[in-house]
Amino acid sequence: MNNFVFYSPTEFVFGKDTEAQVGVLVRKYGVRKVMIAYGGGSIIRSGLLDRVKESLQAAGVTYGEFGGVQPNPIDTKVYEGIDICRREQAEMILAVGGGSVIDTAKAIAAGVPYEGDFWDFFIGKEKVTKALKVAVILTIPAAGSEGSGNSVITKIETLQKLSLRVPELLRPVFSIMNPELTYTLPPFQTACGIADMMVHIMERYFTNTQDVEISDRLCEGTLMAIIKEAYRIKQNPEDYDARANMMWCGTIAHNGTCGIGCEEDWASHFLEHEISAIYNVTHGAGLTVIVPAWMTFVSRHNPKKIAQFANRIFGIPESEDLEEMALAGISRLKHFFRYLGLPVNFKELDVENPDIERLADSLHRNKGELVGNYVKLTKEDSKEVYRLAL
Ligand code: NZQ
Ligand code: ZN
Repeated sequence: MNNFVFYSPTEFVFGKDTEAQVGVLVRKYGVRKVMIAYGGGSIIRSGLLDRVKESLQAAGVTYGEFGGVQPNPIDTKVYEGIDICRREQAEMILAVGGGSVIDTAKAIAAGVPYEGDFWDFFIGKEKVTKALKVAVILTIPAAGSEGSGNSVITKIETLQKLSLRVPELLRPVFSIMNPELTYTLPPFQTACGIADMMVHIMERYFTNTQDVEISDRLCEGTLMAIIKEAYRIKQNPEDYDARANMMWCGTIAHNGTCGIGCEEDWASHFLEHEISAIYNVTHGAGLTVIVPAWMTFVSRHNPKKIAQFANRIFGIPESEDLEEMALAGISRLKHFFRYLGLPVNFKELDVENPDIERLADSLHRNKGELVGNYVKLTKEDSKEVYRLAL
């Protein structure tokens, strides 16, 4: 096991009706003026925005509003948010929504006290040294941004989708998680969220680091819980306990717990971010196309952990031929994704003729000569993974 620092100060307030506590929680963190950030309107239709405002008013917290954040959030919305927060002197950004809203809130939080262009942080030109506080009311378990210090933003001019990681400053101070808020999710978004959290675990599980039994078992246990609850949610989207377990799985999948002591991979995410940047597909659906292709490719070179996954998650019997075991597991995984109604190749993603040269060029321009760790991908390897996803 490698050395590690694990710092996860977010206060999670979980359960039915917990959004009613938002006003009191904001005050607890010494804040009197918040900016409520949200997406395309689901929280208006569900009545959540009104309940949030009520709770803030009751606690004597004043607020501004910043709506219209789109999925695969973009830099122009961040600039807009920085202006509004400065003008209204917001002390905290309250993100009410999913990864797109939370990530926009984090980028704004880093941008407000900084005199230069916030994009400097995403391209590694500057380090974040100060940020507004961010708090969350989560409406979709997926990106894990409610417990992570990461933000993923697309620069629209260059179609670069890049991530920023600053756990010490950008982790939300509190995250309110009411599983009932997820009942209104369209089945496709529920499914994409499930796929995303599974892959967050797999990026950590597929490691060459030896003797990480605790991380292996946390990963396997969480993956198995996700698969079990996915079946229950598919049968009854308003099954509270299934939704509750799934929601917490999404947080555990990405708050660092599962990857403790491991060298993590992340090639699948980087391969996917190029797809959602260029073709504006939903991140989870891009992942279910890329991950089986990536697993197939790496099984040729380093099948050990993929075979272990096949055996422990899908019960594929042990055999001396690790690649064969791995391929059997990949086939079961694809079957599961299809059961959820998700695509497993570019065609099913409605990207008929992906521009593989462009995807690979952009990937290696953004991420360097070699991508990932479990197997380090050259540009030729990346092209092969994209081809395997056709
Ligand atoms: O915008 P509204 O109207 O709210 O609708 C949203 C949106 O259309 C809808 N939705 C959310 N909660 C709902 C709901 N509809 C009905 N009822 C509800 N309760 O769902 C749609 C998707 O929302 P979005 O925020 O985009 O989803 P998600 O949480 O999957 O976030 C995806 C983004 O996060 C990034 C992805 O790349 C993508 O840009 N990621 C962020 C990470 C991080 N910060 O650590 C890590 C991830 O790997 C990921 O890359
Ligand atoms: Zn993801």
